[in-house]
Amino acid sequence: MPIPDRFDGKVAIVTGGASGIGAGTVRRFIDEGASVLIADLNGDQASALADELGERAAALRTDVSKEEDIAAAVSEATDLFGGLDIMFNNAGFGGALGPLVEASVDDFDLTFDVLVKSVFLGIKHATPAIAERGGGSIINTASICAKRPGWGPHLYSAAKSAVLALTETASLELAESNIRCNAVCPGLIATPLYVGNPKATEEQLAAVRESDASLQPLGRVGEPGDIAAAVAFLASDDAAWVTGQHFSIDGGMNVGPKFEDWPEPFRTTHPIRHHRPPDR
Ligand SMILES: NC(=O)c1ccc[n+]([C@@H]2O[C@H](COP(=O)([O-])OP(=O)(O)OC[C@H]3O[C@@H](n4cnc5c(N)ncnc54)[C@H](O)[C@@H]3O)[C@@H](O)[C@H]2O)c1
Repeated sequence: MPIPDRFDGKVAIVTGGASGIGAGTVRRFIDEGASVLIADLNGDQASALADELGERAAALRTDVSKEEDIAAAVSEATDLFGGLDIMFNNAGFGGALGPLVEASVDDFDLTFDVLVKSVFLGIKHATPAIAERGGGSIINTASICAKRPGWGPHLYSAAKSAVLALTETASLELAESNIRCNAVCPGLIATPLYVGNPKATEEQLAAVRESDASLQPLGRVGEPGDIAAAVAFLASDDAAWVTGQHFSIDGGMNVGPKFEDWPEPFRTTHPIRHHRPPDR
């Protein structure tokens, strides 16, 4: 549940804030008192959300893979709202699909530009503004595919792993400016990205909630609000001693499947099956 007034007077940028996880986090920050700049490639959708949320929300069409766009987003947030406290580097897409032997260098560059260069640029340009306020929080969206690479496409998984490494090294450098830097690793979240259609319908989202519920030990697909709650925690003073961490929010998916659910012959040949305590 939102904590009213938790972010009173605070300013956040949410990249990819027009849809899915980003939009859920924008709503959470607004509900908790922050002012938010929605920085998204889809300028129309970002503006529509900002209009809906009122005067503490604003939108700027931003391509997170372009340095001038990220720099402009930071300037816009500080000009409009007086400073910057929270940067959520979240925008993304599925990246290039298919076998590595068929992937082009352009596929590779686009995937890493949108998923990794964006996080580098977000950290680079947000840091001086956040430092000017005496510190704050940067949160980067990785994925459970960073920890279990076989669950995602090659380049997506590699890019998200790079986001985890960058989060760790950044946390060391930014600590002296009192800026914490953490990553969230969402599991399967019912968003347009997950259904593979930027204009996903409610029916499509409902279909994946139904078909993929059992993939998580907690028995349901995740929702944008599940990630927003974790991002809000990491952005808040409750996480004042947390930096350089990778926070999995995935209904337990990354620790599964449980032993009994592995298919044969794994279970019958696994050495644990043959282990017995000594006779007494
Ligand atoms: N949905 C999942 O299951 C899932 C799981 C793990 C990680 N993630 C990650 O979560 C993040 C958000 O994804 P989502 O599921 O909310 O997807 P989404 O498609 O609902 O939202 C992504 C947003 O990013 C924007 N975007 C895409 N490219 C951009 C660019 N170059 N510049 C600026 N904005 C851009 C899109 O316009 C869109 O509004 C992504 O980084 C994604 O990789 C999602």
